[in-house]
Amino acid sequence: MICKNLSVNSDGHLCFAGADTVRLAAKYGTPLYVMDEDRIRERCRTYLGAMREAFGEAALPLYAGKAAAFRQIYRVMREEGMGIDVVSPGEIYAAASVGFPMERAYFHGNNKTDADIAYAIEQGVGRFVVDNREELDALNRIAGEKRIRQKILLRLTPGIDPHTYAAVATGMVDSKFGVAIETGQAAALTAYALALPNLSLEGFHCHVGSQVFDSDVYLRACAIMLEFAAAMKAEHGYVMRELDLGGGYGVRYLDSDPEIDIAANIRQVGEALRAHCAALGLPVPAVRMEPGRSIVADAGLTLYTVGTFKQILGYKNYVSVDGGMTDNPRFALYRSPYTVYIANRMNEKAALRASVVGRCCESGDILQENVPVPDTVTRGDIAAVLTTGAYNYAMSSTYNRIPRPAMVMLRDGEDKLVVRRESYEDLCRNEL
Ligand code: LLP
Repeated sequence: MICKNLSVNSDGHLCFAGADTVRLAAKYGTPLYVMDEDRIRERCRTYLGAMREAFGEAALPLYAGKAAAFRQIYRVMREEGMGIDVVSPGEIYAAASVGFPMERAYFHGNNKTDADIAYAIEQGVGRFVVDNREELDALNRIAGEKRIRQKILLRLTPGIDPHTYAAVATGMVDSKFGVAIETGQAAALTAYALALPNLSLEGFHCHVGSQVFDSDVYLRACAIMLEFAAAMKAEHGYVMRELDLGGGYGVRYLDSDPEIDIAANIRQVGEALRAHCAALGLPVPAVRMEPGRSIVADAGLTLYTVGTFKQILGYKNYVSVDGGMTDNPRFALYRSPYTVYIANRMNEKAALRASVVGRCCESGDILQENVPVPDTVTRGDIAAVLTTGAYNYAMSSTYNRIPRPAMVMLRDGEDKLVVRRESYEDLCRNEL
């Protein structure tokens, strides 16, 4: 099994965090997102512990809410003492609404509007991760109007290829995010930021990409960022206080994916960082990392009810389920791999291959291809797609007027509804 929170019980049912998934499907209906809160908390503690050990007590992991942003997860982050990475007023609103301490929120984005900036300041967001010169000007102006001095980081592109899929590679020089070190623009923007009266430059940020397995990428990014910081010290006498290395550690979608030892990786980055700082004459900065996927991905799975099993003789087999690209667009967008099981037939031999497809009026509505399934699969069975905790609920839509699923969280063997299933009425709510 790809994660230790999965098992099979004596009825041959798939269990997740100790709960029988077939029973959960019967209790809450399908499609259903299920999240293992204990696993989320365990991952937070791994990051917190490893980062403090590697970088010192000032280190802080920021959960990247874009992976899964809803009120209960912000409560968990608050309780675990995490920081958060937010990318929109919507995420800020959700976090603030459950009392998340917003001084531990870092506000990202390559195009923050004046309204976004004003709202984030009003909510007391701790840091803006500034992407470009226009944002610096707007933020300096709005902070001045509100009579505050806003703490910021500058987002830089270190010029690194993280070897992942194109949609999530962000550290290269030609990225839409940040300013390039290589072209000299990062140095120019730093000088510009230092001269703005209503902003306080705390340090620098980079994010090389997502679903990254190559640990060398972080070592190289860290070295490039520290060399840049040393150059800014030499040029301006500016001493970087914070260094944010972004998110991106990969997770296992398939048995064949490698398992990353996050604590060991962070330890390695810590050793390299200390050595570089010593060599460059820099104090060790307060380090931030921004894990999203590696906090929540394998803490989630999605349950569906099978509606049809179509065998096109000599061609292809299809298992159709009652959700699809509306609750998980990642295969349609990135051809992302997933492990899929027929949750009520775990002890049967999966001798056939089928495409598991959704219910949308679109041929591209595929959850996964070439899935091993037993030849007994039939209407009413429960299909489970694993590792859906990241970028599924967050990227869901209501295409074809299909309401978004409910979400249940599991903790200490108890299940609790945390997101209600959308109703047809919800879908029409804003329509006059
Ligand atoms: N920090 C920044 C600035 C980011 O842009 C991202 C992800 C993260 C942190 C979190 O990265 P993670 O630890 O989750 O890899 N929708 C795509 C993923 C887009 C990621 C965007 N940025 C997917 O479903 O694969």
